Amino acid sequence: MKHQHLVILGTGGTIAGRAANASDNLGYTAGQVGISELLATLPVPPGAEPVISEQVAQIDSKDMSFAVWATLAGRVSHFLAQPDVQGIVITHGTDTLEETAYFLQLACNPAKPVVVTCAMRPATALAPDGPQNLLDAMAVARHADAKGVVAVCAGTIHSALDIQKVHTYQLDAFSSGDAGPLGYVEEGIVRLVKNWPLANEGRASSAIKNIVELASLAEWPRVEIVMNYAGASGTVVEALLAQGVQGLVVAGTGNGSLHHALEAALLKAQVAGVPVLRSTRCLNGRVLPKPGDGIPDSKGLTPVKARVALILRLLSAGQG
Ligand code: SIN
Repeated sequence: MKHQHLVILGTGGTIAGRAANASDNLGYTAGQVGISELLATLPVPPGAEPVISEQVAQIDSKDMSFAVWATLAGRVSHFLAQPDVQGIVITHGTDTLEETAYFLQLACNPAKPVVVTCAMRPATALAPDGPQNLLDAMAVARHADAKGVVAVCAGTIHSALDIQKVHTYQLDAFSSGDAGPLGYVEEGIVRLVKNWPLANEGRASSAIKNIVELASLAEWPRVEIVMNYAGASGTVVEALLAQGVQGLVVAGTGNGSLHHALEAALLKAQVAGVPVLRSTRCLNGRVLPKPGDGIPDSKGLTPVKARVALILRLLSAGQG
């Protein structure tokens, strides 16, 4: 029987953060400690195969770029294609984790597990949460039935479709909203409360055809997010149209409601050939469509995930 390896890809984040002082959980620099150094601090479970690690990026995830996404998707698909690789763990900052996880689900649609993990405290903290999160993520990636892109933080397993960062500071910073988490990791044991994500389970059928081509793209489609609020107008949309924006997501109020001036500008954008998706700025729930809606809803996707779906839809269309 072939050895079943885990691959650990480092991209930076607070999990790799370093502060001058061990009691400082805020004034650190993210993306400093290498992935091999992070792994060296972990106990190796008896009988576990050695892991393969690779530093794909070393950034604060607020600075996540299309270039890093393209490289990451390329490395993920490369390793997933190796028969002796059981699964992949990716260390990532918490701030844009949900976008990267959803991007990888749509772009790679993995039949093996791709587990994104993170930390809210830097590696240099008195009590860092990163090592436990990394161990838990490895336990999930080793689970015999695991598949799809999931995220692990604070002992909880979230689907890439549902995960959202909901807290600025607490260690349990993520929620799966109405859907609830997929399960938990308890002392290295995975306890599922739902099924693993299904292949192609996405709320947008936008898987791109050729991941390798992503890396060679000079520019990705420009898709921006605008928001509804008291006193909103159409001026931001008009300015974006003048700049050649290729897609728009609107974070509406409540059930996706829009100030009449903003809605008029978005309808004009659609007429001009710019696709628009309507999501909500509410943390829970989804936009429920109703007769007469001129702007399609985001099928339950949050504004940032609707943007990822629209970018990939535009890329797929461009790939013909
Ligand atoms: C980041 O997103 O890279 C910094 C914040 C964090 O990981 O919690």
